[in-house]
Amino acid sequence: MDKILVTGGLGFIGSHTVVELQSNGYDVVVIDDLSNSSIETLDRITSISGIKPQFQQFDLKDKTKVSEFFKANTNIKGVIHFAASKAVGESMDNPLMYYENNINTLVYVLQELKKLNHSNFIFSSSCTVYGQADELPITENAPVKMAESPYGNTKQIGEEIISDECRVNSKLNAIALRYFNPIGAHETAIIGELPIGVPQNLVPFITQTAIGLRDQLSVFGDDYPTSDGTCVRDYIHVVDLAKAHVIALERLLKNKNKSNYETFNLGTGKGSSVLEVIQSFEAVTGLKLNYKVADRRAGDIIAAYADTSKANNELGWKAKFTLDDAMKSAWKWEQNIRKNS
Ligand code: WQD
Repeated sequence: MDKILVTGGLGFIGSHTVVELQSNGYDVVVIDDLSNSSIETLDRITSISGIKPQFQQFDLKDKTKVSEFFKANTNIKGVIHFAASKAVGESMDNPLMYYENNINTLVYVLQELKKLNHSNFIFSSSCTVYGQADELPITENAPVKMAESPYGNTKQIGEEIISDECRVNSKLNAIALRYFNPIGAHETAIIGELPIGVPQNLVPFITQTAIGLRDQLSVFGDDYPTSDGTCVRDYIHVVDLAKAHVIALERLLKNKNKSNYETFNLGTGKGSSVLEVIQSFEAVTGLKLNYKVADRRAGDIIAAYADTSKANNELGWKAKFTLDDAMKSAWKWEQNIRKNS
């Protein structure tokens, strides 16, 4: 069984990807510093797949520990790199923490891969790199724009670092996956999104409002130039996203990549407004959500949704779950994690 390293593998997208890797027969080792995840997720993954991933808890900012890990694990066939801080608002308040955590860790992992005769690297990127795109849907050729936040800038810089390294190191084969808006949870409701503190993202705030943890959802503005005045995003089910990571990894393992650095948009190709997400939630749960319209949130773009033809044609991957499927799974997950608290 090919051994795959998943950094940040106990996080939201990471944990779902570990489950998919295991169900495809891969031997997974996880590194996670638990700064934005919980050790319980390791047992949750195991209860789904029946296989406990090898796990090491350390901070990838510790260059010596990273080097020691790779010295002790010489048979790693691929790396999927999720480990990063990812809260836009937090990055505005603490840019240096974001640059140190998201950039240094990437460089240290790539420096270890540079010592190998061949390496396969999947990078967790984001549609944030496009900013407010001039044209919709957004293709991979859309210009990368001035980042709206240090978080978004770390994704842009991360892609440039990988691209520059791939240019001088033909032994490194890399794919950057640009996620649109990941939502939902595994069908078992055993793993899902576990925001720490007040959720920044829309869907966990919806489910926490519905379950009574939050009083009311604020819809950040309804005066945008969109169908109903609220912002539009491409909400993709986290399991569709996880499956795409396995497919992208196998593209590299089987040497099917067309160049040693490629980028793919991962979305559904469909835009949904904030009000449409609320309507979807109410339709699949039969609940009435308590929300009000509030002021716009600084930094929000008006609309973003993916042109997914490159991933569809090159990867042979297409999102299968609908917005309703994702909202149903998010609600089931919220109910499950609250039932024991
Ligand atoms: C979606 C829409 C809000 C909360 C961010 C990152 C992106 C990725 C996903 C990491 C917006 C509105 C939200 C609320 C609301 N993260 N909203 N009330 O900002 O599109 O993307 O998270 O990779 O990189 O930029 O996602 O879920 O925060 O917001 O009205 O309480 O929901 O204004 O229009 P976003 P989001």
